Amino acid sequence: MAKQVLVTAALPYANGSIHLGHVLEAVQTDVYARARKLAGEDCVFMWAADTHGTPIELRARREGITPEALIERAWHEHRRDYTDFDIGFDIFHTTHSEETRRHAEAIFTTMEAKGDITSRPVQQLYCPHDQMFLPDRFVKGVCPKCKSADQYGDSCEVCGSTYSPVELGDPHCSICGTVPELRSSEHLFVPLARHEAFLREWLAAPDAGGKTELQPSVRNYVMEWVEGGLRDWDISRDPPYFGFGIPGHPGKFFYVWFDAPVGYIGATEKYCRENRRDFDAYWRDPDRTQTELVHVIGKDIVYFHCLFWPAMLHAGGYTTPSRVHVHGWLTVGGEKMSKTRGTFVLARTYLDHLPADYLRYYFASKLGTTQEDIDLNLEDFVLRCNADLVKKAANLASRSCKFVTSRLGGTLAALPDDAASIVAAAQARLLEARGHYLAFDSARAVRCAMQVGEDFNLYLTEQAPWKLGPDQVERARAVCSAGVYASQVIAAILAPVLPAWAAKVERMLKLPQRLDFATGGAPLPAGHGIGDYETLAEPIDPAKVAAIIEASKESTPMSTTDTTAADAAPTYEVEPLQAETTIDDFAKIDLRVARVLTCAKVDGADKLLQLTLDVGPLGTRNVFSGIAKSYAPEQLVGKHVVLFANLKPRKMRFGMSEGMILASGASDDAVTVLELDGRSRPGERVS
Ligand code: MSP
Ligand code: ZN
Repeated sequence: MAKQVLVTAALPYANGSIHLGHVLEAVQTDVYARARKLAGEDCVFMWAADTHGTPIELRARREGITPEALIERAWHEHRRDYTDFDIGFDIFHTTHSEETRRHAEAIFTTMEAKGDITSRPVQQLYCPHDQMFLPDRFVKGVCPKCKSADQYGDSCEVCGSTYSPVELGDPHCSICGTVPELRSSEHLFVPLARHEAFLREWLAAPDAGGKTELQPSVRNYVMEWVEGGLRDWDISRDPPYFGFGIPGHPGKFFYVWFDAPVGYIGATEKYCRENRRDFDAYWRDPDRTQTELVHVIGKDIVYFHCLFWPAMLHAGGYTTPSRVHVHGWLTVGGEKMSKTRGTFVLARTYLDHLPADYLRYYFASKLGTTQEDIDLNLEDFVLRCNADLVKKAANLASRSCKFVTSRLGGTLAALPDDAASIVAAAQARLLEARGHYLAFDSARAVRCAMQVGEDFNLYLTEQAPWKLGPDQVERARAVCSAGVYASQVIAAILAPVLPAWAAKVERMLKLPQRLDFATGGAPLPAGHGIGDYETLAEPIDPAKVAAIIEASKESTPMSTTDTTAADAAPTYEVEPLQAETTIDDFAKIDLRVARVLTCAKVDGADKLLQLTLDVGPLGTRNVFSGIAKSYAPEQLVGKHVVLFANLKPRKMRFGMSEGMILASGASDDAVTVLELDGRSRPGERVS
């Protein structure tokens, strides 16, 4: 009996906005889930927002709102972005739910009862000012290996070495700059080594009797960790921490990565309740006799999904993953997405300028079975969409349908004999495409559609029905019917990628049933009447792409980098809510006279100037300011300016920015720096 299928994408972290890297994963997951549904399978796509952890706690504080309000806002935003990208999830829940809490607790208590939880004190850096233990990424200091300054507590971006935050030289809290102290606290651990036998079985290759589908390179990568010795996994955190308390351990919270994947289970439970499905059949099927569980993830979170998660599920008596599919990283123009270059594109920014389908198609045409990075090359994007979608696919449908409706009364003929071989080839391509989709090879699948397009475009051009005389109307009808048929098959092949396109073709051709892999290859009967052609795709205007990049360029240098990276997950900026301000808030801002000592352009950032400021008794400060379009560096040297002196230091790509200078002006290109005359003394308060 065919198994029911449960598909997931990684749960996007609620700390930031959805960007095109997230969209890449969503498209891959969506195309896969839709293909399985179109293949007639019982498949659901379970999804949620990942809402716990230190970054959420701190961001909420910074914005002066509750973490609940923050994750609520993110949930709406994420759901809308994905919906507008036509991602066909069956539910988008949240990890901050009763369902997730219950299952996280159940897994924990079962594990604890079996002796799968241990505890011991952990020495960790603690910020006395913020009154919290600092996650690795919230400590900065000098790399113990190469001595580079300003490195994160877990790894050095200069020499690449990894270490513990207590090894850092000259450590400081990245939130407030205070020197942290070492404190001890009791932590709970999962001794993973207890699950080594299970993990080896779960990770086993097919030729060794393994039943889990993993890409060979992923399998090898994870096996290296197992061979290297499985270490205990620290699953508890101390307050302040936004998350679930650990039952039986007052004052301890589940580490976000403990309950995040449980969100897959929580979402399924809610879905089952609302859709009258049997929850146990999905998640209480440890031998996977009824259910196939497929996770799609990026390569940064393999560790969590291929070691911790299967071990937790196994220990808790839940269904373990049947397959984990890992995709590569999205780059733009061959490089990591960058805010300065305008290639850090948010989902919403793209949607403000172009329809989702182009990007869905482009991603699908590049995504395959490996973890190679996927590059969004903007010229290639325009060329590919215009060549494939417009010239090959839409044109074929437009010329054949329009000819039938405008000249031949809108009725089809039987397919002509001389097209028999390309018709057979199209049917074969449809089946072939189905297989490619189910193997996560959408690049090959969409190529099948384009091959059908090429065959029939050539046929139509050669047979040139529009050149046939009035005595050959029936021949023209037959030739055009072949073109209509090809458009139907192409739509069926592309249906997982372009559902809206497929729906339009169903309408246009007045198809008696939905297009899928079974129905898509059957020709319409002679005499079938079709409707008017509806535009399927129009050429992309390259100016639209340029506008996306322009809109993605950082508007002020202060928004460049957020240092509050999650324990493992990257985090991204969202616009803070506008809150009302009182005089007390204003009094918190420390404004000081500062004299510009040096001023220079910044390589690779045409809007930025780097200033060294003399702030009298406060010493000197390094500040980056987005005023390079308005000032030549030498114009500012020696000037007395106003410094926002107690602004939290910001790590930028070029170094630390320790404050902000005040300026007026509507746009970055025309600002006036506030200047004080020479009587003001550096370090003096400005009020
Ligand atoms: N919240 C965790 C996942 C928990 S799953 C139980 C997380 N969130 S994330 O928002 O940082 O990332 C979500 C997914 O997007 C991950 O699979 C991640 O690999 C993927 N990507 C984030 N940036 C990406 C690119 N630039 N390119 C491709 N995928 C990227 O991790
Ligand atoms: Zn601090």
